Amino acid sequence: MTARDFIPPVYTTNVEKGSVTWESPSNIALVKYWGKKQDQIPENPSISFTLNHCKTMTTLEFSKKGDLEHFEFEVYLDGEKKDDFKPKIQTFLERVEVYLPFLKQYRFIIKTENTFPHSSGIASSASGMSALALCLMSVEKQLINSDVIISAVEEELDDEYFNQKASFLARLGSGSACRSIEGDLIVWGKTKSIEGSTDLFGIKYPYKVHENFKEYQDTILLVDKGEKQVSSTVGHNLMHNHPYAQIRFEQAHQNLESLKGILESGDLDAFNAIVESEALTLHAMMMTSMPYFILMKPNTLEIINKIWEFRQKTGLHISFTLDAGANVHVLYPNKESQEILQFIQSELVAYCQNGHYICDQIGFGANQIQF
Ligand code: DP6
Repeated sequence: MTARDFIPPVYTTNVEKGSVTWESPSNIALVKYWGKKQDQIPENPSISFTLNHCKTMTTLEFSKKGDLEHFEFEVYLDGEKKDDFKPKIQTFLERVEVYLPFLKQYRFIIKTENTFPHSSGIASSASGMSALALCLMSVEKQLINSDVIISAVEEELDDEYFNQKASFLARLGSGSACRSIEGDLIVWGKTKSIEGSTDLFGIKYPYKVHENFKEYQDTILLVDKGEKQVSSTVGHNLMHNHPYAQIRFEQAHQNLESLKGILESGDLDAFNAIVESEALTLHAMMMTSMPYFILMKPNTLEIINKIWEFRQKTGLHISFTLDAGANVHVLYPNKESQEILQFIQSELVAYCQNGHYICDQIGFGANQIQF
């Protein structure tokens, strides 16, 4: 498959106006995407757990307009107009226009809200961009004549194409967003150990996954809710000419290959070793880029040390991962929830800003909301 396969046929249906709504989750990478080429092509493959509770809900209202020269849209977050979101969305629309040639024919109102607080330090770009991509796909679906009766097999292929293209579009908004359309484990980026993997969009992890990883828990400790000093986009760019880049990209392929055996056998110790190494390697890349930067905070390290101590003492299968920030995602199997949640509440929550944390778990992807 190539990007050209996502250029649609001529639209056959005229739709004057309408409204569509999708809710789409965030995701947490186990093997991290850090470094990209042109057109949002990742330098290395990644794999993530789709989350369940951290979601964005987006309603897209659309109505035909006269001028075909410009994009016309307004953005609202929690009912409040957000002009500072417009440049990112403008860039997104410019990137995807060739794949969605109707964009300049409509005026859009984008109304969005998150289940997690905006100022939680949790990036909303994965859930936000995937929700918007799905809304745009629903508009496109209405423009493609669906009067023709299709078979069940064709319908399934249609759904597959819909999800692939939604993921492809979301990727052009924010790389990690392409892993939020479906669940519960998504691979993005071509790698030889995963059949069907591609740089163009996320695919469902195609192999057997052990019971241990079903309903896996992710408790997000909000260590720092402030705006990050360095955006992910700047961080990705610093991987160009980074002295350790090539070896890091190679390591991501190897870690994904190792994870394949671990996911099948259910080896939680080996899982924790890869996941934590990936998190620390991500931050090591930041610390060794030029200019260098540190996104962890003292409390991030306090939490990591506490987790290691507790794991050593109890033998429970708790581990951590980090995204591009100071917050800590505490990962653990559902069957150990009770003891681990108790430990989190009594020992770790004290390191969170205002004691705030979010209990989430692995989820199954986005849903269209019908009113
Ligand atoms: C550290 O997807 O936010 O969370 O493509 O520039 O929007 P852009 O970057 P983004 O990067 C996420 C990086 C990460 C690791 C990961 O999710 O794989």
